[in-house]
Amino acid sequence: MTSPIYDFSGTTALVTGATGGMGRAITEALAAAGANVMASDLSDDAGRALVASIESARVAFHRADISDSDQVAGLVAAAIERFGRLDAAVNAAAIEFETVPLGECTDDDFDRMMNVNTRGVFACMKHEIAAILEHGEGGSIVNIASTNSFRPQHDQPAYTASKHAVLGLTRSAAFDYADAGIRINAICPGAIDTPMLRTAMERRGRDADDTARRLSPIGRFGRPDEIAAAAMWLCSDASSFTTGHALAIDGGMLAS
Ligand SMILES: NC(=O)c1ccc[n+]([C@@H]2O[C@H](COP(=O)([O-])OP(=O)(O)OC[C@H]3O[C@@H](n4cnc5c(N)ncnc54)[C@H](O)[C@@H]3O)[C@@H](O)[C@H]2O)c1
Repeated sequence: MTSPIYDFSGTTALVTGATGGMGRAITEALAAAGANVMASDLSDDAGRALVASIESARVAFHRADISDSDQVAGLVAAAIERFGRLDAAVNAAAIEFETVPLGECTDDDFDRMMNVNTRGVFACMKHEIAAILEHGEGGSIVNIASTNSFRPQHDQPAYTASKHAVLGLTRSAAFDYADAGIRINAICPGAIDTPMLRTAMERRGRDADDTARRLSPIGRFGRPDEIAAAAMWLCSDASSFTTGHALAIDGGMLAS
């Protein structure tokens, strides 16, 4: 099967969580389609390795912790300084570390999860929207939410709440900025084979084949490039009538 061909030449995209599983695949796909990409994550070393592996002057890295609004403002400013404008953003950075039900979730763990997964996406959207409004030609923002935005898994109270909230932010901003030509959508991945999923299975002592069968009617984990394909569509004009949407890429999990 051939992939759709996108042309993002002359546009600039920002990707958070860019050295993680999905963020890396999205950064690579956008760069391959001609976009300038400002990639961001927590580690400068991993960022340098990412840029070196893509070997394109159109990809740069800027370290930012998305739970710190000032660092997010600095990241968006760095994208503008380097590439002149912002047209698209994919907010993929998040954390997941829970193994207990709500009654055992500590206040600190709840706050930590919300500060990164929800407040972090809020801060990113706020600064990304301002940058897109600056040129007035519209753009696209994609938030990576989760099937947990609709259906919880056991022992993930704060993560589930944080991902429900990402949908709220997505829909609310989509409604407010449709007039300005900014489309804002969410991708809701099911079980995708990334470091986050592998670590979560290890923490819970789960078997990979068993988990894949349980979480996906298709019977396997999704691949990061399958999420990147959806992100590319949502960032492109091919999805020009789509906003406020939550797109499940989950091997059929939510349908089952
Ligand atoms: N893998 C899955 O099965 C799955 C399922 C549903 C949703 N998701 C979501 O997909 C997105 C991508 O996850 P992934 O599976 O690629 O995970 P990953 O752990 O491979 O990547 C996440 C990246 O986010 C970065 N990050 C964490 N905290 C940060 C912070 N405070 N500031 C900046 N960067 C930070 C990490 O360093 C990491 O590189 C996340 O939003 C995750 O919640 C993943």
